[in-house]
Amino acid sequence: MKILVTGGAGFIGGNFVHYMVNKYPEDMIVNLDKLTYAGNLETCKPVEDKPNYKFIKGDIADREFIMDLFEKEKFDVVVNFAAESHVDRSIEDPEIFVKTNVMGTTTLLDACVKYGIQRYHQVSTDEVYGDLPLDRPDLFFTENTPLHTSSPYSSAKASADLFVLAYHRTYGLPVTISRCSNNYGPYHFPEKLIPLIISRALNDETIPVYGTGENVRDWLHVYDHCVAIDLIVRKGRVGEVYNVGGHNERTNLEVVKTVLHALNKPESLITFVTDRKGHDMRYAIDPTKLETELGWKPKYTFDTGIPMTIQWYLDNKEWWENIISGEYQNYFEKMYVEKGRAKE
Ligand code: NAD
Ligand code: TYD
Repeated sequence: MKILVTGGAGFIGGNFVHYMVNKYPEDMIVNLDKLTYAGNLETCKPVEDKPNYKFIKGDIADREFIMDLFEKEKFDVVVNFAAESHVDRSIEDPEIFVKTNVMGTTTLLDACVKYGIQRYHQVSTDEVYGDLPLDRPDLFFTENTPLHTSSPYSSAKASADLFVLAYHRTYGLPVTISRCSNNYGPYHFPEKLIPLIISRALNDETIPVYGTGENVRDWLHVYDHCVAIDLIVRKGRVGEVYNVGGHNERTNLEVVKTVLHALNKPESLITFVTDRKGHDMRYAIDPTKLETELGWKPKYTFDTGIPMTIQWYLDNKEWWENIISGEYQNYFEKMYVEKGRAKE
C-alpha cells in the first residue's frame, strides 16, 4: 500500500511516520509537509534513509499541487495530520487555521474523490466537543456529544470534520475520523504545555500557568494515539468517528508540579499569568467505542508515560534546543535541498 501522511514533520504525524515505516516495511509511507514553524524534519531523521519512506514538501491547501501529486503518486490511503494546531496562535490569527485546517482538508478530500482513494482518515481532536464543567466529573465526551467549539482552532477542526462526513454521505468517500485528547511524548514542539515545562524548567526559567491552573486535560501518550489511528484506518467502519483517550485527567497545575518534581526543580518557578481567552475548562474522553469495537487498549498511563517522556527530553536536548534557537529551520536546506532528496 502507498500511504500519504500529511503533517508528518510535526509532533503526532512524525511519531506516526516512525511507527508506520517500522511496522509496515512492505508499505510505502509518503510524508507531505509544508514545513511551517511547527514542521521539523529533524523529527524524521530516524527514518529518512529507509527505503519505504519519502518526504515531499508542499501545502495541502495548494489545489494544483495536490491534484498533480495524487495523479503522479497513486495513493491508496491518506491520513491527514496537517494542521495549524496551537490554540493560542488561533486566537491571535485565525485565518491560516481556516486555510489549512478547513480548505486544506477539502482540497485533500476532492483529490481523494477524483483519484478513488481506498481510505481517507482525518485526525481530529476532542476540542470539537467544547468543554465540560469542573463540577461534573461524571460527564465525558462520546462520539454523539454535539460539536460546540470554543476557539478558532477547534472551530476550524470541527468544520473539517463536517466536510469529511459530508464527502462520505454525498460522494461515498470511504472516510474515518479519530478525535483524540491531549497528546504528549517525544518530538512535541516546545510551545505546548508539557515540553514547554520541561525545556523551561531545565533552563531554570519561569513556567507560565494560565489563570488558576485548574483547567483539566486528558493526557494520552502519542504512541497510543498512533496505534489507535493505525487500527481505525485498517479496521474501523467507514463513515464512523472514534474517540481516543485513556482516562488520564489532570489539572494543569498537577501536570506542572509532576514535571517539576521529576526534574528536581522548585515550585517557585510557577508563575500565574493572564488566562487564555475562552479557555476550555475540562476535556475528558470516553473511548468505549474504540475499545469494544476495535480492541484498542492504551499501553501507557500518565504515571508511566511522563517519566519516559521527561527522560526522552533529557536524552535529546539537541532536538529541542535547535527549535528554541531556530536552527531546525535550516535542516531542510542542509539535508534535503543541497542533497537533492526532496522536491519543493
Ligand atoms: P503540529 O503543529 O506539531 O504539526 C503540524 C504539522 O503540519 C507540521 O509539521 C506543519 O508543518 C504541518 N502543516 C501545517 N500546515 C500545513 C499545510 N498547509 N500543508 C502541509 N503541512 C502543513 O501538530 P500536532 O500536535 O502533531 O497535531 C497533528 C494533528 O493532530 C492536528 O490535526 C491536530 O489538530 C490533531 N490533534 C492534536 C492533538 C495534540 O494534543 N497535539 C490532540 C488531538 C488532535
Ligand atoms: P496546550 O498544550 O496549548 O494544549 P490545548 O490548549 O490544546 O489543550 O495547553 C494545555 C493546557 O495548558 C491548556 O489548558 C492551556 C495551558 N497552558 C498553560 O497554562 N501555560 C502555557 O504556557 C501553555 C502553552 C498552556
